[in-house]
Amino acid sequence: MRTKLAAGNWKMNGISAALAEIDALKIDFGAPGVEILVCPPATLVDRLSQRVQGSPVMVGGQDCHENETGAHTGDISARMLHDAGASHVIVGHSERRADHHETDAMVRAKTEAAIAADLVAVVCLGESEAERDAGETLAVIGRQLAGSLPDSATAATVVIAYEPIWAIGTGRTPTLDQIAEVHGYLRAELVRRFGAEGDAMRLLYGGSVKPANAAEIFAVPDVDGALVGGASLKAADFGGIIRALEQA
Ligand code: PGA
Repeated sequence: MRTKLAAGNWKMNGISAALAEIDALKIDFGAPGVEILVCPPATLVDRLSQRVQGSPVMVGGQDCHENETGAHTGDISARMLHDAGASHVIVGHSERRADHHETDAMVRAKTEAAIAADLVAVVCLGESEAERDAGETLAVIGRQLAGSLPDSATAATVVIAYEPIWAIGTGRTPTLDQIAEVHGYLRAELVRRFGAEGDAMRLLYGGSVKPANAAEIFAVPDVDGALVGGASLKAADFGGIIRALEQA
């Protein structure tokens, strides 16, 4: 049995006032077998970590640099996130891959840096709409998986998030069959490369997950949770998704 994970990605949203959104989650949730992760902007990692201490809510960063220290103005290392109280970090989100030209090799280096700093890396993959239309989805996903995951990855140190780019922030989601196809493919590839460890790695689906569609998505085989953007900003919505995961 894989521990489920509901992960929220606030992206570039949230100033101090947003921290209060998490208070309700601390009280309402905590069922065994379901982990809750919130990834606020880096400016809030320290304060949110203090605020959720002793609760089931964990805190993560949204990106890290591959180096531990150095002359990289504006960047944040995995070690710094860990020092600020984070337990996880998202790497390779499609917005980072697009806005900052991050390659699979860079994502792999960041994943290695995260593992070295005792952070769980949430490694994101996903095809564009043009790639799906061209029938290249599994080839793209396979290439990203192979290139972004280091050989040192284990079920304890890495979580994979499948996020079709065309479903992010659009309100559109793949069909359940399409999600099942990609997650089944990812599971087979992970087992082929990592054996039993690959079978234990968590696979999240991300892209326009909301309370109304969460239950049906969580019923898809090999979906072990979700990476949630917009709907993670409000406790009521994120709470609805966590509840669906607890009941899945
Ligand atoms: P969304 O974003 O839930 O707003 O579609 C998901 C993500 O980018 O992680």
